[in-house]
Amino acid sequence: MTATILPTPADLSITPRDRRFGRDAATPRLWHGGGVEATAIYNALSATFPIGEAYFVESVRAFREGAPPKLAEEIKGFTTQEAIHSREHDAFNKRAADAGYDLSRLEQRVSERLAITRDRPPIVNVAATMALEHFTAILAHELLANPRHLDGAEAETADLWRWHAVEEIEHKGVAYDTWLHATRDWPRYKRWKVKAKIMLLVTRNFLVDRTAGSLELMRQDGVTGLRAWWLLMTYLWVRPGMFRKIGGAWLSYFLPGFHPWNVDDRHLLGAYAAIASGTESKRKVRRAT
Ligand SMILES: [Fe+2]
Ligand SMILES: [Fe+2]
Repeated sequence: MTATILPTPADLSITPRDRRFGRDAATPRLWHGGGVEATAIYNALSATFPIGEAYFVESVRAFREGAPPKLAEEIKGFTTQEAIHSREHDAFNKRAADAGYDLSRLEQRVSERLAITRDRPPIVNVAATMALEHFTAILAHELLANPRHLDGAEAETADLWRWHAVEEIEHKGVAYDTWLHATRDWPRYKRWKVKAKIMLLVTRNFLVDRTAGSLELMRQDGVTGLRAWWLLMTYLWVRPGMFRKIGGAWLSYFLPGFHPWNVDDRHLLGAYAAIASGTESKRKVRRAT
């Protein structure tokens, strides 16, 4: 058997950056520029991370045994990064709860969705993970490439999202390479069919659930009915239009020869330097006062 040649950059290093955000002060309820719909969609995403990322870790880790050394090393970096993301989003979700939001219905929905995969073969979990990892990677790319998405957001919370986005880009190929390794003996068409089917399912659930979750949080802010729907749809699809802007990158997943690293967007990782220096200078200020 010939070894698979992967487009993952040979010099890529997956570096967990063990940071803590928002521990010193309460996060304002409408932390995203005072906007109900902007705060709602980011909070709705955050509500899914602790449960979702634990699932990603479990799904990929099941295939670490027998993986080539480079992939095994990348899986280690990936699982460490995701575990720290879960911790930080768990803390963020507690701050949202302190500000008065009830995230329990959103969290329950994620658990229900994941329960469906529980008695499926482990490879199905990897396929679902790589589909969701593609989502997070293209959302992360758009978030970092276009500062408009975090315009007006409270500074430290914006840093949390940028930090998470940087690491999502860095480990975006890990679930995919795990899948390529685990299915190396499958016929090409079978690989594509399973991958595509699961992506379509994951996309439908993602759009339905995040929309419902955001509307639920907007309801908790007293915005309901057509007005809520209109505000949210405009925010997601028109301006700043995150979901519209990732459409092309989403579609590329279905092309033959797709790999997350066909797009090398490591130039966006430079955003982390700004976060790190920002955090550092804030610390210095705190120490000085
Ligand atoms: Fe993550
Ligand atoms: Fe991830």
